[in-house]
Amino acid sequence: MHASPKQLLVVLSSAIGVACGSDVTFPEDGSGGRGVGGEDDGQGGSMTQVSSTSGFPPPSSFETEVCFAWPQGEGAGGAGGTGGTGGTGGTGEAPPCPPRGEALDYVSKDEQVCGNERITTEGAFANGECCYTMSAECGVGRPFLDADGRTRTAAPTRSRQWTTDTGGPDVSDLSEAERRSLAGRWRRDAFLEHASIASFGRFALELLAVGAPADLVEEAHRAALDEVDHARRCFDLARAYGDTVDAGSMDFGGAVPVSSKLPDIARRAVLEGCVGETLAAVLASEQAEAATDVAVLRTLQRIAIDEGRHAELAWRAVAWMLEVGGEPVREAVGEAFHAALATELDVSERSAPIRAHGVLSMTEERRVLKQARQQIIAPLAAGLMGLPASAASAATAQA
Ligand SMILES: [Fe+2]
Ligand SMILES: [Fe+2]
Repeated sequence: MHASPKQLLVVLSSAIGVACGSDVTFPEDGSGGRGVGGEDDGQGGSMTQVSSTSGFPPPSSFETEVCFAWPQGEGAGGAGGTGGTGGTGGTGEAPPCPPRGEALDYVSKDEQVCGNERITTEGAFANGECCYTMSAECGVGRPFLDADGRTRTAAPTRSRQWTTDTGGPDVSDLSEAERRSLAGRWRRDAFLEHASIASFGRFALELLAVGAPADLVEEAHRAALDEVDHARRCFDLARAYGDTVDAGSMDFGGAVPVSSKLPDIARRAVLEGCVGETLAAVLASEQAEAATDVAVLRTLQRIAIDEGRHAELAWRAVAWMLEVGGEPVREAVGEAFHAALATELDVSERSAPIRAHGVLSMTEERRVLKQARQQIIAPLAAGLMGLPASAASAATAQA
């Protein structure tokens, strides 16, 4: 059982004591209002620039390690796999690894799950492979934002600390490309779930800093434990699809800023929780609808339920902050919702859907997230601010 978007709206509405209809319009990508339930814009066209789904919050960035066999046979193109060719043992028989700017050409497209990947280090040669750090931005959920508002994730490692090898998916019907794509997707999600642990750790401290009631503090800690479970499950799935990367150390830059300013905390709770986790809950729920593989289905259902509860915590926390924080909080919350609902991001097309394993098409994902913004987040935001649903646009635009 997992919550549908409508059920989630009901749960969240009652959690913050707001009655929600769904006749709301609000700005789409800064270009004026649009009716609710807007059609997907059919984008029959080609792949160059498909508007992504994710909208807001800003896509989480994550880093991972990618390797390809080196040197390669004469044909260009996507590498993959392992398999040593030349010079292990140290003597440099292999030619130097390709420079950073060219390395992405050798990384299999199936490993580029966001479509905006870039290589951020020079290559290191070992055991017949060239390895690089690859970064990308995509995904919804609760990111961990550093002092500069940038998302952070753990460094990748080869040592196994988060995987457990419990019940994997059935990979027998998958092509090599599909398997690799699924490994990349679950690896990305695993790193983002892992970062959410830190996000809740800080949120719990900030709730303490501003004298929040016990139930909010308690739930923030419980949510961090949920994220530990999500990270483990995602690393397990990634490994079952053939991935070899695990979570290593997380660089906090020496200090984690813990704010005691209600407007700042409320703003982040809106972006990370009310928006990020509401979208994550709805997306996981839709993915679970599509999935038929039992291991994937179980994980998506778990995540959908937990993210719905985390979203509820965020909405309740923001409601409490509005109650005690007065006008400065109200202004910060209004701005944050406005930014969240008016922003849309573009990414290039990704690999094909694999519905049995919970991967939707770009078009489906876009529709799901768009509707969640229009039919859940916007009316709840208006209700939270004490404004009529029909004024959601103006409400979120104020300030
Ligand atoms: Fe999560
Ligand atoms: Fe979460």
